[in-house]
Amino acid sequence: MTQTWRPDSWRQYKADQQPDWPDPAALAESFANLSRFPPLVFAGEALSLKKHLARVAAGEAFLLQGGDCAESFSDFTANAIRDKLKVLLQMAVILTYGARKPVIKVGRIAGQFAKPRSSPTETQDGVSLPSFRGESVNDPAFTEAARLPDPKRLERAYFQSASTLNLLRAFTSGGFADLHRVQMWNQDFVAKSPQGERYAHIANQLSDALRFMEVIGIDSKNTPVLHQVEYFTSHEALILEFEQALTRVDSITGDHYDCSAHMLWIGERTRQLDGAHVEFLRGVHNPIGVKIGPTATADDLLRLCDRLNPDNEAGRLTLITRFGHDKVAKLLPTLVRKVRAEGRRVVWSCDPMHGNTQTVQGFKTRPFDNVLSEIKQFFSVHKAEGTVPGGVHFELTGDDVTECLGGSIEVLPESLRERYETTCDPRLNATQGLDMAYLIAELMQS
Ligand code: PEP
Ligand code: CO
Repeated sequence: MTQTWRPDSWRQYKADQQPDWPDPAALAESFANLSRFPPLVFAGEALSLKKHLARVAAGEAFLLQGGDCAESFSDFTANAIRDKLKVLLQMAVILTYGARKPVIKVGRIAGQFAKPRSSPTETQDGVSLPSFRGESVNDPAFTEAARLPDPKRLERAYFQSASTLNLLRAFTSGGFADLHRVQMWNQDFVAKSPQGERYAHIANQLSDALRFMEVIGIDSKNTPVLHQVEYFTSHEALILEFEQALTRVDSITGDHYDCSAHMLWIGERTRQLDGAHVEFLRGVHNPIGVKIGPTATADDLLRLCDRLNPDNEAGRLTLITRFGHDKVAKLLPTLVRKVRAEGRRVVWSCDPMHGNTQTVQGFKTRPFDNVLSEIKQFFSVHKAEGTVPGGVHFELTGDDVTECLGGSIEVLPESLRERYETTCDPRLNATQGLDMAYLIAELMQS
């Protein structure tokens, strides 16, 4: 029953969570423009990430994926991009130490603009308007004009992604990401942290290792891996008009790649086997992810593997589980066991954010301890089942926001209002991200 795939074959399937574009001619024009624009990433880079993920699937590397829930057009500055990169690099170094494995760094960045919503409309004071679907679709302001989907926004998202990527490429190849520098930031964090004593052990060991390497002549000048990092981009492939328009044929292999990002994932709300998102992503050769929430059955997972990874290629498919700290221990074991029993080669990654959202004092938030608890249980389930806990997936930012509760510099319920800046879900701030990395590193050592 599998029909021939084409970049537009998804159009014959039901596509959930797509905007009601009011003007088809304007959409067609933006689609045509995007189709002509240069690719944002190259097929070879996506292929390289897939190879790294194959090592993750085999337990030889660890995946760290993180960034904004939704990028925004207004919070678009060099400093914001730098600080998001910085926190992810710092976390990666800590996790490298904890896992004793290379950490594969993937940002939710340079394209993470579109959001699925639980309701197509939002009502405030008796007025109903279309929901905000991310800034590549409409504007968060609660007015009729702002909420009207505008395809020109897809083009703006493309250009913002291009300049974000340009800066990221400069940062990651130009010395900003030098391991010595990242380690200095981490020492600085440990010196200031209330949990400094607890974290110092890991930080000091890393410094000792770097000093030892220097003594024997391994330094940033003669060893590029100390001076540059490989950093990949990812986003939810939600707006299929955008993703199709950025799909290109790789001249070397003849395969299609979605060149809007290195890795794309399918959200919890759009992973229907007979849906347009699964149809679209099955045909592109990027590494892809699928979010797996509490309603997924083992059979659903196996059918998703059949469809999205029929050749059982390691690194192609990452299953990102997001159950919530109170459900993961009950739901994850069966899924892991069955997928393993069927010999499916997947990366298991844990998104401890999306199952742990609650509303406190009118703010959507996530308690740090619940986030950590889901990760701990994710690790123990995999340990018990003999499978590989391959990675973690966070919503976080480099800014000092107050969106998630807790952490070593504790965000209290009454401080949520102080710097609640997200355009969608609550993110860990830089301190909470680093706390998390140290605690996971400890966990991996135990
Ligand atoms: C997200 O990652 O921001 C998201 C919407 O996740 P999920 O599809 O898991 O709900
Ligand atoms: Co989110």
